[in-house]
Amino acid sequence: MAETVAHRVAEAADLVTVALDALLPRADGPEQRLTEAMRYAALGPGKRLRPFFALETAKMFDVEERPVLRAACALECIHAYSLIHDDLPCMDDDDLRRGRPTVHKAYDEATAVLAGDALQAAAFEIMAHPDTHSDGSIRAELVRRLAIAAGARGMVGGQMIDLIGVGDDLGAVARMQRMKTGALIVCAFELPLVLARAKEAERQALAGFAQDLGLAYQIVDDLLDVEGEADLLGKAAGGKDAARGKVNYVTILGVEQARERVDLLADQIKAHLDMFGERAVYLRDSVDFVLDRRH
Ligand code: IPE
Ligand code: IPE
Ligand code: MG
Ligand code: MG
Ligand code: MG
Repeated sequence: MAETVAHRVAEAADLVTVALDALLPRADGPEQRLTEAMRYAALGPGKRLRPFFALETAKMFDVEERPVLRAACALECIHAYSLIHDDLPCMDDDDLRRGRPTVHKAYDEATAVLAGDALQAAAFEIMAHPDTHSDGSIRAELVRRLAIAAGARGMVGGQMIDLIGVGDDLGAVARMQRMKTGALIVCAFELPLVLARAKEAERQALAGFAQDLGLAYQIVDDLLDVEGEADLLGKAAGGKDAARGKVNYVTILGVEQARERVDLLADQIKAHLDMFGERAVYLRDSVDFVLDRRH
């Protein structure tokens, strides 16, 4: 069962990596350093879970592949940019990402800032292009959803809270996690639902699914920071979050209770899919696949 999901995730990853390779700019002039850094970050060996969610949801609703693949590429560009900036010395100060030097280590800090900026712009260029959809109002809605998820009410807002810290308040930590990580995961479901012109009840159910999954996803990331092996993770482990003074479910509750929260959330997440029955079989299986991950 988990193998089938693993296979579908791998298929989505291949599709999106090939598409991104074709979509991302190349340059011959002195700006080549920038386009190389963008490609280094975006084409690296990420799990591509957000594109997987988008493509899987599109299949559930019989949405054709081309538009959702472009939307997934745009979303993955935002994710790649978020990781470049997240790793900078002024943020988490990390040297390793996806098993390789972070962008500011492989290049330099200024190039990393610019590569993140340019990946964000590339995301909106890809999304707004007529090839994404013939209907301009659909394209505008896709762009709007991505902008909300990426910006001050979503990922970037959550990153701000992460840096400031929220004290030992679990409710405030949950809000931060929903913003910094949940928002892009929620967006992965919203984009295909815009393309599918899905019914409100279906949107609501998948929004609930994605919100809870996004929270659990970040708690697992925080668990892996303590329990994971850096070799497997491809990024720092060994309790680096706590050492940096970060506050999250694991630093507040400890490993065991944080894991219990994830297990409780897993049932709650799957329950959101009840109305879809067999149509959601792969999304349902993906919950355990994603939350039991080792990297
Ligand atoms: C890492 O995201 C940052 C978080 C939001 C937890 P992923 O775990 O999806 O990283 P990649 O894309 O697979 O490298
Ligand atoms: C990052 O959270 C969330 C983002 C929006 C990039 P983390 O800082 O915990 O992610 P990792 O552990 O560096 O991948
Ligand atoms: Mg961070
Ligand atoms: Mg980090
Ligand atoms: Mg982390």
